[in-house]
Parts: sequence; structure tokens; C-alpha cells
Amino acid sequence: MEGVILDMSVSIPHYFVSHEALAEARGVAVGKYKIGLGCHSMAVCGQGEDVVTLAAEAAWKLLEKNAGSREKIGLCIVGTESGVDHSKPISSYLHSLLELPSSCRIFEIKHACYSGTAALQMARNWSLQNPDELALIVMTDIARYERHSPGESTQGGGAVALLIGHSDDDDYFLELSAKSGIHAMDVHDFWRPNYLSSALVKGKYSIQCYLDGLVAAYDDYVRRSGDNEEVDYLAFHVPFPSMARKAHNRLLKHQGIEDEEVIFEDFKERVEPALWANRIIGNIYSGSLYLMLGGLCELKGNELSDKKIALFSYGSGSCSEYFTGTFGQRIPQLGLRQLLDSRIEIDVTEYERLHDASLLAERDGSYNEELDLIPRPFVFLGVREHERIYRRNEAFFKENLESYETLSNELNAATIQLH
Ligand code: COA
Repeated sequence: MEGVILDMSVSIPHYFVSHEALAEARGVAVGKYKIGLGCHSMAVCGQGEDVVTLAAEAAWKLLEKNAGSREKIGLCIVGTESGVDHSKPISSYLHSLLELPSSCRIFEIKHACYSGTAALQMARNWSLQNPDELALIVMTDIARYERHSPGESTQGGGAVALLIGHSDDDDYFLELSAKSGIHAMDVHDFWRPNYLSSALVKGKYSIQCYLDGLVAAYDDYVRRSGDNEEVDYLAFHVPFPSMARKAHNRLLKHQGIEDEEVIFEDFKERVEPALWANRIIGNIYSGSLYLMLGGLCELKGNELSDKKIALFSYGSGSCSEYFTGTFGQRIPQLGLRQLLDSRIEIDVTEYERLHDASLLAERDGSYNEELDLIPRPFVFLGVREHERIYRRNEAFFKENLESYETLSNELNAATIQLH
């Protein structure tokens, strides 16, 4: 079987700020953030972290988990709306940091939060033509809004990496439906002009565009595939967790279910279990649908095998895609809880300082050798003579590889036991 998702991995920033702290600092009732928007904490990048290092870390973990995969990567696509250069793609940096083969097609694509799905669908088709090779898809973003703006509390950051390829049997993660439902329209709901470092958003309008895109893409899916069977789970693009509740509500009503109690119970069973990681990481734009998928894997493990999931991807501007997937026998163990436990909590003053520092790090002359000290596998040292400088942190590899291998072995052993 060609073009299946074989495995996935996730990386997240080093720091986080709680929504209790943010609510107090902004003079907002904490219920608005935690209940209204469904956000509990948000990931914040430390110095030395950017979209490239997040992408490299997620992809590196994926390649380490899959022995022998690196040499077979023939396609590497990065989906992002946080590009670091108008010309040079993030995939070029990944190519050297991950030591990918020279015979490898590399590029970056953008369409707001939809880019990852576009990359994934492209990789599936490529896989049909190249069954002996593997495609590496990385979605990486840092969600950044103006401070004190309504979007501020929905910020976050992180990367998701997917390995796409061929499987002879059912030893894969997810097989996607042959058909997708699509809906595109030209709207200004969320965008970031070249001269701004934060996005502009018409918040309520963007919610409307998302929901309209959802029902139109769903109808297109049913029309193209003839499939309107009930699925076991639903995962949505998650700009903030309550958006998944709104999406589920709208979809069920569109399917003819009106009873709010029935809809709520269905939400608790088929959607809520997957949302926990999005609640504590925040919006990761292109990867947020796939983070929800990862949260489900972490919680349900091998119970998911043979189950069917609906996936809805939305990118402002806009493009919507509704498709389904059937889980194979290889449900990824992402170690998400360990990752989250290792984060460092910071207060709002420190979050604001890091927010400012990350913007300064984008300027020429920001290069700082000392940043090599942060305990991450890849470090962004800043810009020197207009070139972004990254370093593999050899100290990290020496100190952490052993514990990482132990963790991988434990996770693999857990997977085997559960089979
Ligand atoms: N306790 C519990 N809930 C509360 C509350 C409180 N004290 N105060 C407000 N709320 C609820 C509101 O009723 C609302 O819920 P509802 O949407 O179910 O009606 C929710 O919290 C948000 O409040 P609202 O006043 O609508 O928030 P806002 O206008 O400040 O901004 C967004 C909300 C989503 C528009 C804003 O965060 C945003 O622009 N985000 C970025 C864009 C985005 O993510 N778009 C999504 C599509 S891509």
C-alpha cells in the first residue's frame, strides 16, 4: 500500500505561560480563556528556538524512531506560515541539519494553516510514483498576535513531522481516504502582510469562514466519495480548542442532528479525548489538526487500530479540506506527556521579554555564540551577515541521546505489548 502515513512526531517550545497568569495580567476573567476559548496554557519559544529548530527537532525524532529512514527520504516539504525568508525555504536548513540525501526534492509551501495538509496530499501522490522512497512532511509554526489583542491568548508554537511511504501489510499509522472534499474562496479573514511581524485577523469573521468551509468541504467529500458513514473520531483544525466544539456542533446540525444534549454527548465521546494537548500548547497553525491527532494517539494508543477518523483542515484565505483516515496497527507513541512535563513555566513579564527577544533575533547582527548552551538538539544562534546560523548542539546529543533511546525503547516495548 503506497502513500500511507507511517509515523509521526511532535516538538514543542521550551517554555509556557499559564492562562491564569495571562488573565490576571490582562485583566480578563480567566473563565473566558479556560472555558470560553478552551485554552489552559500556551507554549512560548525561548532564545535559540525558532520554526527551523522546532521543525528539525520533530523531524530528527521521527528519523531516529525509524531506523534506516534517513537514507530513503526523497522528498521533504515544509508547511508553514512563519517563513523565515522570502526565498530560501526552511527545508534547506533541515536538509543540512538532518543530513538528508542530496537526491532529495526539498521545498516549502504556504497556505495559512492548510499548508501541512496540502503537503501531505502532495506526498501521497509522490509516494505512488516512488514506492521505494520516503517523504518527510514537517509543519512548523509560531502563532504570534499583537499583545493585548483578542488573539493573544490563543498563541502557541510547535512542529509536527510525518513520514509517508509504502507498507506491505498493516504496519502503518494511518491510511487516508482516496477522495477529499475541498472548498476554496478568496477572503481576508486572517493574513499577515510582508511588512508586519504579527498576523491581522477578523476574529468572528474567520470563525464564520471556517464553519462555512467545513460544511462545504464535507458536502464535497460526500459528493466525490459517496461516503457518509459515521466515523469513530473527528479531528479539526484547532486555532483555539473551543473552535473544535463549534465545528462539531455545526457539522452535526448540518447532518440533521438538532438535539444539543445529543450533540454534547457525542462531542465528549468523539472529539474531546483528542483535544487535551491543544489546550496546553496553544495554536500551532499548520500542525494543529495533526497535534489533535497526536493527542488522540497518546491517549488511546493501540485501541485506535482499525478505527476511522474524519479530519478537517482549514487555512484562512481560504482553503478547506475534509477527508477521512483508517488507523493501521502502528499507532505512534509520541511521548507528549514527557515533553510537556519537561517544559518550564514562566510569568507574563518573562513571556513578554522572550516575545520581544525573538523579534530582535530576526535582525541582522543578532548572532550570539553563547546561545549554544540551551538544552535543545538544534539551536538558532541568530543572523550574521544576513545569514541565519543554526547549530547541531553536540552537547545535547551526547547528554540526551542515551535517555532518548531509552525512552524510545520503552515506548516501542509498550507498543509491542499492546499489540
Ligand atoms: N466565562 C466563560 N466564558 C466566557 C467568559 C467567561 N467569563 N467570557 C467570555 N466567554 C466566552 C464567550 O461567550 C465566547 O464563547 P462563544 O464563542 O461560545 O460565544 C468565548 O468566551 C470567547 O469570547 P469572545 O468575546 O467571543 O472573545 P473575543 O472576541 O475576545 O475573541 C476570538 C475570540 C476567537 C475571535 C479571538 O481569540 C481571535 O481573534 N482569535 C484568532 C483568530 C482565530 O483563531 N480564528 C479562528 C478561525 S481560523
